[in-house]
Amino acid sequence: MSNVKFMSGENVPLEMHKVRMVQKVNLLPVEERLKCIEDAGFNTFLLNNRDIFMDMLTDSGVNAMSQEQYAAMMQADDSYAGSETFYRLEAVLKDIFGMEYFLPAHQGRACENIISQSLVKPGQVVVMNYHFTTSKAHITVNGGSVEEIIRDEGFKINSNDPFKGDIDIDKLKESIKRNGKENIAFVRVEAGTNLIGGQPVSMDNLREVSEICRNEGILLVYDGSLLGDNLYFIKIRDPKYRDIEIKRITREIAALTDVFYFSARKLGSARGGGILTSNKELYLKMRELITLYEGFLTYGGMSVREMEALAVGLEETMDFDVISQTPIMVEALCNELIASGVPVVTPPGGLGCHVDAMQFCSHIPQAQYPAGALTAALFIASGVRCMERGTLSEQRNEDGTERFADMELARIAFPRRVFTLSQVKYTADRLTWLYKNRELIGGLEFVDEPKMLRFFFGRLKAIGDWPQRLAEKFREDFGESL
Ligand code: F0G
Repeated sequence: MSNVKFMSGENVPLEMHKVRMVQKVNLLPVEERLKCIEDAGFNTFLLNNRDIFMDMLTDSGVNAMSQEQYAAMMQADDSYAGSETFYRLEAVLKDIFGMEYFLPAHQGRACENIISQSLVKPGQVVVMNYHFTTSKAHITVNGGSVEEIIRDEGFKINSNDPFKGDIDIDKLKESIKRNGKENIAFVRVEAGTNLIGGQPVSMDNLREVSEICRNEGILLVYDGSLLGDNLYFIKIRDPKYRDIEIKRITREIAALTDVFYFSARKLGSARGGGILTSNKELYLKMRELITLYEGFLTYGGMSVREMEALAVGLEETMDFDVISQTPIMVEALCNELIASGVPVVTPPGGLGCHVDAMQFCSHIPQAQYPAGALTAALFIASGVRCMERGTLSEQRNEDGTERFADMELARIAFPRRVFTLSQVKYTADRLTWLYKNRELIGGLEFVDEPKMLRFFFGRLKAIGDWPQRLAEKFREDFGESL
């Protein structure tokens, strides 16, 4: 994607691709949208796609693929063992990342299962910039705990810091001293830090973290699921890397880590996952678990067709026009919202636009899930489905009390190369309307609350009749319009 200057002086995002296959979407009347979200227990995960206008729940497994990816899928080799497809993918990975060994897995969390089972002993801690829901769940299931050492800047909703995903080096040193290096299973760095607004990690920071880990003999595990966005920000925000090839930056990142894993539902715009390492001992240990949980080593639970698409998708990730698409669209939406006073995380990150529900719904107590309420309200107002990334996405403490999230965000994710600028403008318009009517939004309470990863299947109800009143106000303001 490119930002092209119009005659007016305005910088407008311009798609560097054309759309050659489309999917019809429906925009239901507001009364029906209200009924759908009630039926879904005010949980956007439980909506049916046929009732959704723009599905901005996630950028995972829903990215548009290129004609080259589809073409590659046709030449997949189905063999259970020794598939040509595996060797093709392995060669691409070796070329891009320069690591010795590749273990395929069916998706990102499967990699987290293998890594956590291999490396986390009960009582150990995993130190990281910030957790992701599934990464934390796998560590705790294996008896470990998570310690987050992101710089304080990472928690600031509004900041000018270009790399809010960076680890705080002082906190890292203090953590090693306090825990003792033998009690640290590994240090985990997450590219494009998901839960704090898709914020990138700088090369300088990764280099420093890597040096400390190597000096102390602690393994450095890198979650590269959002590497594409992170690479874009390194190119754009770090002058030292402006003229360095994306592939060279990628190699440099990989060389600083001991284990690199990724969800191929994000990185490479296909569906699957993988682990890379040059550590033979570790490779052999994890390999046993791959065959136990994922499948034989030459497919690891992935469809061979997806593996072919992934090989091409990874090569396309080295193209600036491809990786710039999402962050530039995110920035476009953020800028429209900022101009209308809607509180969003800044600087704009990768993967999506993050609306600060703590400010947007400042009248809703955290115990009534303001970010969850905002996602439900946005669906009523627009048919746009986004995701709660706040307290609902946390797990309760052992004693049953609520663990309040550091941030209450409504994440409006951008599937790569899927939505057009007019659709983005529509989202901005409805969100701005919602902001002007924010006092109408009320809280939520659980009706049915699963113990583990409750945000996936939990059902809630509105406290009071605010959803009805919101829908009525919409009708009043927009008349016959959808
Ligand atoms: N790590 C990060 C940083 C992720 O964002 C995800 C998934 C995973 C690991 C797990 O990968 O889904 O392939 O098992 N994130 C998706 C999201 C679910 O919507 O942000 P997976």
